[in-house]
Amino acid sequence: MNKGLLIVFEGIDGTGKSTQMSLLACFLKEKGLDIIETREPTNGQFGQRIRTLYANRDGVSREEELELFIADRQEHVQDMLMPRLQEGKIILCDRYFLSTAAYQGAVGFSPEEIIERNSFAPQPDLALLFYVPPQIGIERITTGRGETLNDFEQEASLQKVAAIFDSLKLPYIQRIDASGSIEAVHQAVLQAVTPFLRNMNQNA
Ligand code: TYD
Repeated sequence: MNKGLLIVFEGIDGTGKSTQMSLLACFLKEKGLDIIETREPTNGQFGQRIRTLYANRDGVSREEELELFIADRQEHVQDMLMPRLQEGKIILCDRYFLSTAAYQGAVGFSPEEIIERNSFAPQPDLALLFYVPPQIGIERITTGRGETLNDFEQEASLQKVAAIFDSLKLPYIQRIDASGSIEAVHQAVLQAVTPFLRNMNQNA
């Protein structure tokens, strides 16, 4: 059994989850805790290949795409997540296997089967699932960041992705309404995370 803590940040693009992960990391570091911040897709060989697909997914089949996300995660679990958890570290991870369930589920795979294929990956202690109406997420990406939607983020598919995220029922998921201000959402994150930190201190 590992003694670390794995907190993952999930939700559709434009929910502000990455901002919230940084805010939480700062808050915890100020408290003197040793925090590891990481993300998927990673910067490893498979993650880099995945990023080349953002512009255009036509070159690979949906199965190959799913296999790439899983291969990237296998590498991440083996090289980084498992060793750090065994050292007792607190890991914050931007996206994890629930993203695969929702995004690759949206292109036709069964979300349950995807979760099953990810059973090699340690279960998160806490999955914060950020939600906003997909239209708000899209506005935040295009108007707010001045970016265009990548091929995983087109509106029709984001609606499907959001619907799958909504349908996921797992004991470690806590849903966070991300339509409020950054500060309000940060407070909701702190409320969700605090009980887990108490447990960590007791184990120390
Ligand atoms: P994002 O998390 O916004 O990272 P970046 O800063 O590199 O854009 O985008 C990652 C994209 O990859 C996002 O659109 C969702 C998609 N994705 C999947 O389709 N499946 C997965 O398993 C993961 C981890 C991400």
